Amino acid sequence: MAEYDYDVLVIGAGPGGYVAAIRAAQLGLKTACAEGRETLGGTCLNVGCIPSKAMLHASEYFDAAANGAMAAMGIKVTPELDLGTMHAQRRDAVKGLTGGIEFLFKKNKVEWLKGYATFEDAHTVKVGDKTVSAKNVVIATGSTVTPLPGVEIDNAKGIVVDSTGALELPEVPKKMVVIGGGVIGLELGSVWRRLGAEVTVVEYLDQLLPGMDGDVRKEAAKIFKKQGMVLKLGTKVTGVTVKGKKATVTVEPAAGGDAENLEADVVLVSIGRRPNTDSLGLEKIGLSTNQRGQIETDHDFATSVGGVWAIGDVIPGPMLAHKAEDEGIAVAENIAGMTGIVNHDIIPGVVYTMPEFAGVGLTEEAAKERGAVKVGKFPMLANSRAKTNHEPDGFVKVIADAETDRVLGVWCIASVAGTMIAQAAQAMEFGATSEDIAYTCHAHPTHSEAIKEAAMAVTGKPIHT
Ligand code: FAD
Ligand code: NAI
Repeated sequence: MAEYDYDVLVIGAGPGGYVAAIRAAQLGLKTACAEGRETLGGTCLNVGCIPSKAMLHASEYFDAAANGAMAAMGIKVTPELDLGTMHAQRRDAVKGLTGGIEFLFKKNKVEWLKGYATFEDAHTVKVGDKTVSAKNVVIATGSTVTPLPGVEIDNAKGIVVDSTGALELPEVPKKMVVIGGGVIGLELGSVWRRLGAEVTVVEYLDQLLPGMDGDVRKEAAKIFKKQGMVLKLGTKVTGVTVKGKKATVTVEPAAGGDAENLEADVVLVSIGRRPNTDSLGLEKIGLSTNQRGQIETDHDFATSVGGVWAIGDVIPGPMLAHKAEDEGIAVAENIAGMTGIVNHDIIPGVVYTMPEFAGVGLTEEAAKERGAVKVGKFPMLANSRAKTNHEPDGFVKVIADAETDRVLGVWCIASVAGTMIAQAAQAMEFGATSEDIAYTCHAHPTHSEAIKEAAMAVTGKPIHT
């Protein structure tokens, strides 16, 4: 009889966990995946990447019809919002994709253990009322919203909400206050602004989108202001009170100063996310978390406890679905005795607003801290496709090592920046120089030509500016 019920037990079926489970099964390992949610796919498919993109895509059409962008191309329409249908197509997208993971589990013979898991010991895990054993356990329990002290989130009430509540609002708020000018705040703030809400973003720091390149952050503020968002940068929230169906958000300058009250029908709390480790029983296996509540691992994703591995939002690094997925593949390969690697220096990040904001590698600020750099920039206004499509906002910036010309970072603001950034990531993965990109033939007319021209600007001159 086998020593363990499974070779691999994955806890959590988000993009990290479901991918790890499928890859482990593909490699011939007997695999189960514990998931407490009613559907597979984790935060990303159920309440994150997918439903937010469904709302962003639909609201972008509405905005284009309402704000004259379509009329400028000879399409005159006065849009009427049917929010019920917009929500229904969002739910359909989620249902289709989460159901798809269930199909993939069956196809690859991954057993879904329904229920929340807690450790009994390093190889024994209780899932619901069942206890199972596994030679290897992969923790992929993801993250949840970071609470703001003193502010109670109640998605059912729909007044003070997190991202999950903000995806489900039954009507367009007249006034919405977003606490936190990061990725969630700008994406979901954009959805409701496009559908007619007056949106005010309160951000503690003096710029939006921490972690992105300085030029990109400055440009983001200009673009969102132009679109009609009110930005209160360098501002902290000191309290939120709810009376009836209205909320009052009290804010004051982060550096100190006079308080101000902002009235809102909906307040979105989006100040970051924290790892889900509290209810795993980690103390039973002697595994501690760091100061940020994350589980530390080595390069192979092994924790300090033998046979226990961790991936995705629960470990350090950007909280992104594609990072979690790549770690899922790598950890399964490492468990199977292969060499699974993730290059954490080259993980693209994208904000799916209009335009999109995307980057990979170092910011100019971080690159300069390491040594001399050369920077090439090209405006989207001079890109023929963007100009033809009435998409003037944005630029591409290529940062290269001054001595070796190796590309260290690429930043794009463009309608399709999320798609454009893939070529930059691939070039950097292959160790490309800016000259390599500049001498690569790019199809015309495409937005991607702006990457080639920004690369040309690193050492010489682009043609079109
Ligand atoms: P998760 O997806 O969080 O999955 C963890 C799963 O584990 C959950 O289903 C949970 O129920 C389960 N679980 C937890 N504890 C237990 C337990 N004890 N037992 C059993 N199961 C358990 N990232 C992008 O890259 N692109 C985007 O466009 C994007 N958009 C986002 C939009 C929003 C609104 C949000 C909130 C996030 C978004 N993200 C996006 C981030 C992305 O969703 C996460 O980085 C990703 O889901 C992390 O994957 P994961 O597998 O680590 O964890
Ligand atoms: P975030 O870290 O992107 O932004 C949080 C923002 O809130 C920061 O700008 C921070 O300075 C600010 N903040 C923190 N405390 C504050 C306070 N008290 N008052 C005012 N501002 C405050 O976190 P967010 O937007 O909640 O997203 C969480 C995670 O989800 C991110 O790490 C992101 O990677 C992931 N995500 C990714 C998406 C994508 O890839 N397109 C989309 C949505 C989420």
